[in-house]
Amino acid sequence: MGTQSDIKLIDENGLRLDGRSAGDLRPIRIEAGVLERADGSAMIEWGGNKIIVAVYGPREAYPKHNQDINRAIVKARYNMAAFSVDERKRPGPDRRSIEISKVLSEALSAAIMVEQFPRAQIDVFIEVLQADAGTRIAGLTASSVAIADAGIPMRDFVTGCTAGKVDGKVVLDLSKEEDNFGQADLPVAALPKSGKIVLMQMDGDLSVEEFETATSMIMNAIPRINEIQRNALSSRVKVEGGGGE
Ligand code: CDP
Repeated sequence: MGTQSDIKLIDENGLRLDGRSAGDLRPIRIEAGVLERADGSAMIEWGGNKIIVAVYGPREAYPKHNQDINRAIVKARYNMAAFSVDERKRPGPDRRSIEISKVLSEALSAAIMVEQFPRAQIDVFIEVLQADAGTRIAGLTASSVAIADAGIPMRDFVTGCTAGKVDGKVVLDLSKEEDNFGQADLPVAALPKSGKIVLMQMDGDLSVEEFETATSMIMNAIPRINEIQRNALSSRVKVEGGGGE
C-alpha cells in the first residue's frame, strides 16, 4: 500500500479512475491451449495484466526424495518478466515471487485430485508478461484453466478476485493505482462449487465490517469469473472437435 493518500481515486459520483463503480470487474479474457509444447496452457488478460500459464505433468517427481508416496506434489512457479512492470524487474526469484509461488501451489493442490497420482509432480509455470495489479489472482485463475486443459482431474476450478479499500470505500478488483495508493488489498481465491476458500491474503487494514463487505463482493464476482473460465475450456474443445457446434 502506498503512502500518497492525496491522490483522489474515487470521484464525487462514486466512480473510479477507469470509470468503474465499486462492484465492477475489469475486462477479463481467457484462452485455453495457447502453447503447443505444454501438456496444458492458458493465457489470461485481466485489465492490463497479461499472463501465460504452462502445465506439465503429472510426471514422476524428481529428485526422488521430493516424492510423496500418497499424492502428487504441485509446484507452481510465479515469475514476472523483467519488462512486465514500470521499473525493470531484476530477473529471477525474489521473496515476493517465492511467497506467491508457495500460496498458489497450495491453492491449486486443494482443487487437483492429487491423491490419484502418488509420487508424481505437476508443474505450473506462471509467466507474467505485463503486470497491472492482481497478478497472483489472475495467474491462479488462468492456472486452473491450464490444468483442466492438460486433462488433469480436478474437484473444481480455482477462481480468484481481489477487493480492497480505496479513498475509504470498499471496491472490487483493484487497479494498479488503487493497489499502489489505496488503504487495503485483499486477494481471495475459492473453489466456486463449494465456496471453499483456498487463498486469502491481506495487505493493509480493514475493519470487520469492511472485510465482510469485501469478501461478499468477491464471492459475488467468483461465479462471473468462473463462467469465463468455463467458456475458455468449452471453446477449446470446439476447436479440437473441428470448430463446429
Ligand atoms: O500482482 P498482485 O496484486 O498479486 O501483487 P502485489 O504484490 O500486490 O503487486 C501489485 C502490483 O504492483 C503488481 O501487479 C504490479 O503491477 C506492481 N509491481 C511492480 O510494479 N513491481 C514489482 N516488483 C512488483 C509488483
